[in-house]
Amino acid sequence: MSEYQPPSSILPLPESLALLDRVFGANTILNDRGKDQVRAYYKQSLIGYEKYYHARGAMHMALNDGSEPGLGGFQKQVKRFRDLMSGEKMENILELGSGAGFNLVWMAKNFPDAKVTGIDLLPDHIGRTRKRAKKNGLTNMEAREGDFASIPEDLGQFDLIYSVEALCHAPELPNLFKQIAARLRPGGRFMVFDSFRNFQPGELSEDYARAMEIAEITVAVNSGFHTVPAWMDAVKGAGLELVADEDYNLQVLPTLVMLHERCIGIEGGFKRVLMKTLPRYLARNGAAGLMGFHAHAPIPGRADGQGPLSYRCIAARKPE
Ligand SMILES: C[S@@+](CC[C@H](N)C(=O)[O-])C[C@H]1O[C@@H](n2cnc3c(N)ncnc32)[C@H](O)[C@@H]1O
Repeated sequence: MSEYQPPSSILPLPESLALLDRVFGANTILNDRGKDQVRAYYKQSLIGYEKYYHARGAMHMALNDGSEPGLGGFQKQVKRFRDLMSGEKMENILELGSGAGFNLVWMAKNFPDAKVTGIDLLPDHIGRTRKRAKKNGLTNMEAREGDFASIPEDLGQFDLIYSVEALCHAPELPNLFKQIAARLRPGGRFMVFDSFRNFQPGELSEDYARAMEIAEITVAVNSGFHTVPAWMDAVKGAGLELVADEDYNLQVLPTLVMLHERCIGIEGGFKRVLMKTLPRYLARNGAAGLMGFHAHAPIPGRADGQGPLSYRCIAARKPE
């Protein structure tokens, strides 16, 4: 396998960390390790996601395998879920952490005979989702405000429960997965796309450990992304069978390069003032943009091509 070459636009890691430290204070960010900042982060960041990331409500990374120009890959996660459900009954579908409704709209349009429900913590996200359903004339989708750790009883049993970049916020997996498993019909499936830790900070150089933790904390994953083994244990502990474990890490790098390039200029002129005046968690997306690439890209010189984090699709099935 040939070694991944970062584009020349990427600021090397030591310089990226130095820039981040001057603008945000690296230790100020790292001091938030372990805190729960999920609500505050999303409340402040929604405007940034809408204005500077994706106008139609995607709050996840596009997947880009080079087959389409630009960043057309925001639907790749839901399309992969559809393919993994091929031939299965799809009447009742649930998204955990459905954000502003981008994935739900796709599911509701593509499975018009299914009931599609999303659960999200933030009232603003629920409001945006309901508006999107109305605008698209979709009567088969619904958004519920709440914590994905308690799926409302009246929603029944699901053929598919999925999540895109939201279960990273779950403080614990074993009980959550047992609850998810209990809500799947026999043969029903549970699928996720998310980032996962390949290493703990102590297993990385100081710079890479800082890059990983800052990339996590600045997107409100303050206790760190879960590891794949932790996921596998929780899947098994909930009585589910693994169906897929797929690595998409190289496909998120184009999104992360684009965000990195946008954030290199945060120290200059108008942007410097902006960083100081924006709400704290909204401004910190600038730090996330700088570090997201370094936290996911393969670490130079490693034979296994691993970065501190990887981006994967994991799917499991409830036995009949
Ligand atoms: C990165 S966004 C992804 C949103 C959406 N899945 C997408 O792909 O566009 C993560 C979402 O998870 C939601 N979230 C985080 N913790 C949650 C919880 N405990 N219960 C419900 N939603 C949660 C956040 O409010 C946010 O909308």
